[in-house]
Amino acid sequence: MNHAPYPALRLRRTRSSPWSRAMVAETTLGPANLIWPLFVTDGTGVEEPIPSLPGVSRWSVDRVVARAREAAAAGIPCVALFPNTPRALRSARGEEALNPDNLMCRAIRAIRDAVPEIGVLTDVALDPYTAHGHDGIVDDAGRVLNDETMAVLVDQALVQARAGAGIIAPSDMMDGRVGAIRQALEVEGFHDVQIMAYAAKYASAFYGPFRDAVGSRGLLKGDKRGYQMDPANAEEALREVALDLAEGADTVMVKPGLPYLDIVRRVKERFQVPVFAYAVSGEYAMIEAAVAAGAADRDAMVLETLTAFRRAGCAGVLTYHALHAARLLGA
Ligand code: PBG
Repeated sequence: MNHAPYPALRLRRTRSSPWSRAMVAETTLGPANLIWPLFVTDGTGVEEPIPSLPGVSRWSVDRVVARAREAAAAGIPCVALFPNTPRALRSARGEEALNPDNLMCRAIRAIRDAVPEIGVLTDVALDPYTAHGHDGIVDDAGRVLNDETMAVLVDQALVQARAGAGIIAPSDMMDGRVGAIRQALEVEGFHDVQIMAYAAKYASAFYGPFRDAVGSRGLLKGDKRGYQMDPANAEEALREVALDLAEGADTVMVKPGLPYLDIVRRVKERFQVPVFAYAVSGEYAMIEAAVAAGAADRDAMVLETLTAFRRAGCAGVLTYHALHAARLLGA
């Protein structure tokens, strides 16, 4: 006796035409699922291509506003800003992070004024402002000091909120910073300013081009393993997420993205909160290198990887391909 369900069951039936495939698709992907990271640099009318991130540039504030306008027109709900702080303004303690007229704050205000319909997400961490490239304040032995750093991060978050940030995204991995930032935001009346915690951020080899983009690669002494997570760990990621949520994070992020989709899935299943992933610079560079080598079709690869993030459980993805993808997806 043959108990095999074939030929009564043929899974190819629902795949046999585009209309049918559309009806059974389990995952959707649209521009609203994308956040576009943008690098800001000094000057006016400036575009500086980033060689290790082909197709991505740093923009002066006026130009970054134009990019935000394009993003909004393509249906992208939010942009993420990262400053390339001039060398002369970097210091051991990263004081420029607290300057209400720093590059970051000028860019936030300019986008708020010109493109009020788009959200602005700002990174809280000191690495774009420190002379040593670490995310916090370093002692004589080279250790990043948790509590001293946290006090500065709170002030950095307030400076960004006052400039008009809609989402504060601490990417520094200090313990306790989400709660401290939340409390300070409440005291100042920023009740609706969200916190997206870089909750599970790994010490990754995929951040290289980003460090070029914000000008911190050549400066970085040592590595970030004393505060960012070990790629070997998953249970620890769940503890990080649990703590950040308990401290008041509205949403959480897993970073990098594709190599950590198992973490996304576990976080989503355990906590049922909006989970975001950061498809980081090295991931973008890998796709672009494959395309440049003639080994892949960019559009197909971008849409497939972004769909994979959604399938794993992401509400959205921070990706340097955001504008390109949004335009591909646009009606
Ligand atoms: C810094 C920060 C990093 C990224 C986002 N915020 C780099 C790092 O931790 O060294 C990486 C993003 C990317 O690679 O695209 N706090």
